[in-house]
Amino acid sequence: MKKLNVRDIRKSKNGKLQVLTCYDFQTASMLNQTTLDMILVGDSLGNVMLGYDTTVEVSLKEMEIFSKAVRRGAPDKFMIVDLPFGSYSTISQGIFSATKLFQQTKAEAVKLEGAFPYQLKMIERLTQTGIPVMGHIGLVPQSVHQLGGYYVHGKNYESAKRIMQEAKALEAAGVFSVVLECVEEGLATQITQALSIPTIGIGSGRKTDGQVLVINDLLKMGPNTPPKFCTPIADLFQVKNDLINQYLEDQRK
Ligand code: KIV
Repeated sequence: MKKLNVRDIRKSKNGKLQVLTCYDFQTASMLNQTTLDMILVGDSLGNVMLGYDTTVEVSLKEMEIFSKAVRRGAPDKFMIVDLPFGSYSTISQGIFSATKLFQQTKAEAVKLEGAFPYQLKMIERLTQTGIPVMGHIGLVPQSVHQLGGYYVHGKNYESAKRIMQEAKALEAAGVFSVVLECVEEGLATQITQALSIPTIGIGSGRKTDGQVLVINDLLKMGPNTPPKFCTPIADLFQVKNDLINQYLEDQRK
């Protein structure tokens, strides 16, 4: 399968873009052999790989280490890397962090959460320097403390209006695609229709131009209950647990 580039992705307004997160070499090597369109090295690695309570704890160095491992395993996939919390609080810091991560990890793009005016300027600058940027609005987990928890966004008029404005502003600033996380389904559909770049949904209904899921939720690789919007296709945590217990029992015989 041909590796996608930003021009291919920009044109993919068909609801078919398939994205999964990935954080390690072995899983990346497996995904590299599939028809998956894009890999996201999300800062959700803080939750699923490092056992942190929130993504707020993830550092730039951690993003770099995990992203490099994924790159080594999946050279043939379009790879997006998350800018972690605190690495883009000002325009100059964001440009420094994004450039470092982009260069060191050989990613094809970076992703950042939010659409405040200074972030829009940052996105303009990054794309001018040659770094493709994916946007991320709706539920932005790095702001969980400011938001007061994890919940669906865009349910009332004010919130829906703001998210629509953010989506349009991100497009104007130059993002090639935008993640809509836990955005009310009808609003996610309207945003998808209003933008010429693809929307990638997570917990935002089926009408976006693509879907992204955390692979550890999809395969239930860990002890945690996956979010409501993700129906696991396996229970690898239990499978591995059973296999190890069987092995231990056999060894004791
Ligand atoms: O970090 C992540 O995995 C993400 C997805 C949930 C979109 O940002």
